[in-house]
Parts: sequence; C-alpha cells; structure tokens
Amino acid sequence: MKALLGVWIAVLLGAAGWIGWDAYQGDRPSIGGPFSLIDQDGRTVTDASLKGKPTLIYFGYSFCPDVCPTSLLLMETAIEKLGPEAAKKVNLVFITVDPERDTPALMKGYVTNFGPTFEGLTGTPEQIAAVARAYRVYYQKVPSKDGGPYLMDHSSIVYLLDRNGRFVTHFTHEAKAEAIATAVERLL
Ligand code: NI
Repeated sequence: MKALLGVWIAVLLGAAGWIGWDAYQGDRPSIGGPFSLIDQDGRTVTDASLKGKPTLIYFGYSFCPDVCPTSLLLMETAIEKLGPEAAKKVNLVFITVDPERDTPALMKGYVTNFGPTFEGLTGTPEQIAAVARAYRVYYQKVPSKDGGPYLMDHSSIVYLLDRNGRFVTHFTHEAKAEAIATAVERLL
C-alpha cells in the first residue's frame, strides 16, 4: 500500500511538472523590468527612457580585461552593419556590475571607446543589484591573488529588447555580429 501511494505521488508530481513546463512554454521568460540608473553624463535613465527604440543591453565592468570589451565591440559592430541611419534608432546600453569603481565620469571615458551612441549606466550598489536581479545577471567580486585590483566574475549576455522594452532574445559574446544585426533589424 505504501509503495502504491509512492507511485501516485510520483504520477501527480510528474503531471504538475508537465503543466508547469507547458505554462512556461506558452509565455516569454520574465527577463527585465523597471530600473533607475545614472548615465555617463549624470542623467537619470530608466527602463521608460529606453522605450521607442529597440535596445541592446550588456552587463559588465570597465576594468574587465576580456569578455566585456569583446561584447561591447560586438554590439557596436552589429549596429554598424545596419548603417548610420539605423544606428540612431537603437539604444546601446552598458550597465556596470562594479558601481564601486565605475563612476559616471569613468563610464564616459570607457564607453566612447566602443561607439558614439553607447549609454554607460551606473548607480548605487542597491540599484545595480536590483537591475541585475531583473535581468538574472550573476556577478561577484573576486579578490586578485597578487594583491592587485579586484576582478568581477559576471555572466556575459547581450540582451535584445523591443521598442516597448520587452525582452526578445539574448546572445553570448561568441555570437556573430550578423546574427545580432538581423535580430535588431527585425525590430526597426
Ligand atoms: Ni567582463
């Protein structure tokens, strides 16, 4: 009898899991949401400020030695493929996961290395934690072994939002610029 009960519980759990999966499949995953941050000129930027244009967002930090420069260059390269007119119709956003060091002034010097239209956003540690949570971004401070400046371990994802600020898809830093350009062009 006990064994039979176990079987029934397994069947019920299985059914519940299947229904849960089905519901997930029928909807977009919830990525993104409201935020309030400061750009490289000290202006407040919110999720509402980005509406009206498709947006590419990347989370990283300016001291990053490897994947952040690769990803930001990838975003700029993708947008350049769409031509100068299209580039004005897309938001390119870099959000720091290292607000301790990435001040607006520092962000200003950094993002201009990658393109003229980049917005480099920073905020309080709480504001950054909130936006990272909304986008399911992982980040963690890692002390350097040789006593040098710390590093930030972080996920490396380029998010694409439509002109209403809704999540459409994401890319890794290994994506092809053409693939990103094609996905953005569809939203223009
Ligand atoms: Ni990085």
